[in-house]
Amino acid sequence: MKKTILVAAALLISLGAIVSCTKSNDNIIQRSLQLPEQDYDYQTTNYPSGFLENLGGGFCDFCPTPNGSGFINDLPINNATATLGRVLFYDPQMSLNNSVACASCHHQTTGFADPVAHSVGFGGRITPRNSSSIANVRFSSNLFWDSRVSLVTDLVSQPLQNHIEMGMESLDNLTNKLSKVEYYPELFQNAYGSPDVTQDRIRDAVAQFLTSMVSCDTKYDHELPNNFAGFTPLENIGRELFFSNKAKCSQCHAGSNFKAPDNDPNSPYSLPTIKGTANIGLDIVYADNGKEDGQFKIPTLRNIALTAPYMHDGRFETLEEVVEHYNSGVKAHTRLDDKLKTNGTPQHLNLNDVEKMALVAFLNTLTDQTMITDPKFANPFKQ
Ligand code: HEC
Ligand code: HEC
Repeated sequence: MKKTILVAAALLISLGAIVSCTKSNDNIIQRSLQLPEQDYDYQTTNYPSGFLENLGGGFCDFCPTPNGSGFINDLPINNATATLGRVLFYDPQMSLNNSVACASCHHQTTGFADPVAHSVGFGGRITPRNSSSIANVRFSSNLFWDSRVSLVTDLVSQPLQNHIEMGMESLDNLTNKLSKVEYYPELFQNAYGSPDVTQDRIRDAVAQFLTSMVSCDTKYDHELPNNFAGFTPLENIGRELFFSNKAKCSQCHAGSNFKAPDNDPNSPYSLPTIKGTANIGLDIVYADNGKEDGQFKIPTLRNIALTAPYMHDGRFETLEEVVEHYNSGVKAHTRLDDKLKTNGTPQHLNLNDVEKMALVAFLNTLTDQTMITDPKFANPFKQ
């Protein structure tokens, strides 16, 4: 009897040792890259009817033409280059100690956000802000919570070099390192016609992969041409409220992307009537001032049901809490957006329980199952 227990204990201990050993080896040795024979199609996006026409949410007469052009981040996409971008996005060798990939904080199953308020980066360091979902950056030119970057290609080197996120302060070290990894020369060759690993190519390939991630296949998109006949009564109550002058959600989360049309002064689509950032009265005194005075990017609400926790600091765990913020939690602030005020003071929407549930039900119609299961966006490294 005693013996069996001892054996079992020894077994458990050695099992534990095996498990922790695989963990500390960090998957790299056992991982193998598996790409399809023929590159996936990243070039084509099948926009549903009304999607491109409604991007501006009625705030502009000059919103994009149906070919989607006009957005600075609507990059020309080459399938081999986006394939390289996918590999780079999932490769922990992009970080200084091979521990963190872009995908460590942007998970496909959670709409490319991170299910924790603050992500763990290089060397266990913690990001001060909540990881963003990266759906539809193609249509955005105010990137990051403080809207500090407009070009996706410029954005890519920031997490790489950031000492909290990936720690790769010298991009020359990164190019040297990647050129010695067995699969990269061929992937760079396929993408750019020569095997050279350069900073510009890394930025461009990751940017192409990012901008190919378009979310436009949700219940909302399917029902739009149908006049929402297939929505449940609750979803329709929520939709009406969302677009109403009472809740005013759509006056900031506007158009098919549920995000402010961009406010880059260099973009032909910048709008005088709506800005890309707003102060929504989260705090009386902000610990993080965002762009300035507590103004943060008006984020897209696509896949919002998957990207908890919410807000720039991940303070709300659920959509119910977010709705309650707009209903009764808005605080006075000198820069509080006018749309969230009634007669100059913070709004109280006085929503009843059904209305609150309905707003959440509507937000749930913005989940895109295709984007979060599509193999072309998935991890190409298999154990
Ligand atoms: C350690 C976690 C972490 C890693 C690694 C990471 N990110 Fe992020 N990402 C974040 C956080 C946090 C934010 C929000 C930061 C902010 O707004 O200041 C963010 C924001 C973004 C955004 C902005 C989206 C928008 O609409 O504003 C993009 C795009 C992005 N990351 C892409 C990447 C890419 C590409 C990589 C790899 C090269 C990467 N991230 C690596 C945590 C991470
Ligand atoms: C004045 C513009 C404005 C209005 C009106 C507005 N929002 Fe927002 N919304 C924002 C901004 C800005 C943020 C990000 C704030 C932050 O993190 O500091 C945000 C964040 C959110 C988030 C969290 C997003 C994320 O990725 O974490 C949800 C959900 C949301 N809003 C839903 C709504 C709903 C529902 C309504 C209507 C009841 C609404 N918003 C009205 C500007 C607005």
